[in-house]
Amino acid sequence: MSVTAAPLVLDDPRSRKALQQEIRMLAKRRDAVILAHNYQRPEVQEVADHIGDSLGLSRQAAATTARVIVFCGVSFMAETAAILSPDKTVLLPELEAGCSLSDSVTAADVRAWKAQHPGAVVVSYVNTTAEVKAESDYCCTSGNAKVVIEAIPKDREILFLPDVFLGTWLERVTGRKMRLWMGECHVHAGIRPDDIRRWREGAPDAELMVHPECGCASQALAFGSDGAKVLSTEGMVTHAKASPKDHFLVATETGILHRLRTEMPEKRFDPLREDAVCRYMKMTTLESVRDSLLHMRHVVSVPRDVADRARAAIERMVRIG
Ligand code: 13P
Ligand code: SF4
Repeated sequence: MSVTAAPLVLDDPRSRKALQQEIRMLAKRRDAVILAHNYQRPEVQEVADHIGDSLGLSRQAAATTARVIVFCGVSFMAETAAILSPDKTVLLPELEAGCSLSDSVTAADVRAWKAQHPGAVVVSYVNTTAEVKAESDYCCTSGNAKVVIEAIPKDREILFLPDVFLGTWLERVTGRKMRLWMGECHVHAGIRPDDIRRWREGAPDAELMVHPECGCASQALAFGSDGAKVLSTEGMVTHAKASPKDHFLVATETGILHRLRTEMPEKRFDPLREDAVCRYMKMTTLESVRDSLLHMRHVVSVPRDVADRARAAIERMVRIG
């Protein structure tokens, strides 16, 4: 098998297909499972064994019997897989695939915050480094954040990090006041209430699906349960399948549109913002997935003591929802 030197023209369906076949063959040889987040490029989603949101992919990573996990996503997701499956080899095809939200808080920040609020319960969104999770009592994802907060005794103070928009939405839906870290995802923060207003005027019958990291998430609640749904990326797929509506406005990273349109070709999905594109999620290409399997790179590992403490926070989350 040879490594192609010149970049492939992946718009050409023949080269795309050939590369996908090569990847499938390598995955078999390496005893690897390929996991892809919903925001990945369409051609990468097509080659994956499982596509999903952070929660679903964490569960796949924990349950797999494969020896190798190729994580087509960003680094905190691959770290979570390494924490949950310490005996597997976890590969991240693009080493630079980070996350602006997870970069917004460090373990030292969390330690300092805890010192200011002794006795408070720390809830970390999954978009955090392993070191930050290790400083936390609970982890949560967009798919289970509400039930995690509701499971914490009412008399306990909560420090929620790092996403301020997700935190504000959680305060609204749980009726619970929390201390919020002021982090944000640069992609979702840019989806603003004005975008909803503009679209609602143009497509009043369409159903609006909003990711809770969006800068408009808590305002979306003002449209009521019939007008807007705040959902994780996987929740959007499940909800659109069950909904009688045939037109949806989607407020999140645009990668999810490929999955929605592929699985529901009879329905119409429009992005609330075309420019909601995560450059980190788009770094992974078919070529980098192929090279990752070919050269067994880049191996993601988490020091054992950090992984053990982070796993405790993740397992507390999994027990709840
Ligand atoms: P989901 O867990 O909803 O897939 O979101 C992950 C993420 O990175 C959102 O930007
Ligand atoms: Fe991180 Fe935002 Fe990209 Fe999700 S979309 S991976 S939160 S930078």
